[in-house]
Amino acid sequence: MRVFQIEGEWGMDHLKLSTRPEPKAGLGQVVVKMGASSLNYRDLVVPNRGYGNHTGTLPLIPISDGAGVVTEVGPGVRRVAVGDRVCPAFFQNWISGEPDLERLTRSLGGPIDGTMADYMCLSEEGVVKVPAHLSDIEAATLPCAALTAWSALVTNGNVRPGDRVLVQGCGGVALFAVAFAKVLGAHVTVISSSDDRLARVKQLGADAGVNYRSTPEWAKATREITGGRGYDLILELGGEKTLPQSLRCIRPGGTLAMIGILSGSAMATPLGLIITRQVRLQGVTVGHRDGFEAMVRAIEQHRLRPVVDRVFAFEELKEAMAYLQSGAQFGKVCVAH
Ligand SMILES: NC(=O)c1ccc[n+]([C@@H]2O[C@H](COP(=O)([O-])OP(=O)(O)OC[C@H]3O[C@@H](n4cnc5c(N)ncnc54)[C@H](OP(=O)(O)O)[C@@H]3O)[C@@H](O)[C@H]2O)c1
Repeated sequence: MRVFQIEGEWGMDHLKLSTRPEPKAGLGQVVVKMGASSLNYRDLVVPNRGYGNHTGTLPLIPISDGAGVVTEVGPGVRRVAVGDRVCPAFFQNWISGEPDLERLTRSLGGPIDGTMADYMCLSEEGVVKVPAHLSDIEAATLPCAALTAWSALVTNGNVRPGDRVLVQGCGGVALFAVAFAKVLGAHVTVISSSDDRLARVKQLGADAGVNYRSTPEWAKATREITGGRGYDLILELGGEKTLPQSLRCIRPGGTLAMIGILSGSAMATPLGLIITRQVRLQGVTVGHRDGFEAMVRAIEQHRLRPVVDRVFAFEELKEAMAYLQSGAQFGKVCVAH
């Protein structure tokens, strides 16, 4: 079967189209014929061994997110049947409950093989049936970006109707966050570098937008949107440069969901505000399978559809990654198998 794999040495130059034998399903395992993959920021970091020892060993099949159809089930499999359309779960052994070090180790696309293969062999516990109304391309966008937004808002965030939520940027996680926050009945503010993107995200349901490039001190402008009260929940995707602003527009007792470090990873913020405003810093790392299944029910109930920007062919993985790197996309960058 066809695979893309990083072979020999780490680095984008060593990401190559190759072949491997087709897998067979063992006890409790399923074989999935992959129909699509979808890219995340993380997938650009893995080939350069950006997560150190957590990235795994070579050869490694990259990309964490995908969807396909079950073509074979091994002995003892009960959760799915041949013909079911599924997504592999990002963390193969975080089924539910609190995270622990073991549950956070087996993520797809590094350290264990990811979705850029014709077939994947997975534990039956590590797959989730996809929303019936979504295509494989659309469903492939769910395992990382969508579940991260869901975990921040629902599993950890406990967002209620009328809550004020702030989302940073118009990337993959951000657009899912806007959709889920609207379903939950929240008021959503988005900050973006582009007025054009702000207009588009408002068409998707965002209530307010502030351009963080033309308004670098966006904390004041966004706080005014909440009538001075501040945000109940902020999805922190920027990190180093955005955290000081977020701390000035979060409400006392509000939560900062710490998700991304797009502007740097150093803690360069006065810590006093965290204490005096009794702010909760909640790290979010994708989420567990139970959360994924709850999210699928919500997506089905509300007939939500992911925003897909562009679909590349399997052989064009590197072009797809370069396109993601360019930042030109609005919505998910996908690969058809
Ligand atoms: N913790 C987790 O489980 C988890 C899961 C998924 C992703 N992440 C992280 O979350 C971040 C976003 O991931 P993604 O896949 O959504 O990325 P993405 O699709 O590449 O989105 C990037 C967008 O973020 C916005 N952005 C960039 N720099 C910014 C800044 N300084 N302030 C505010 N917004 C900024 C930009 O939006 P505009 O163009 O609108 O300005 C950009 O388009 C990454 O750091 C990623 O590693 C974490």
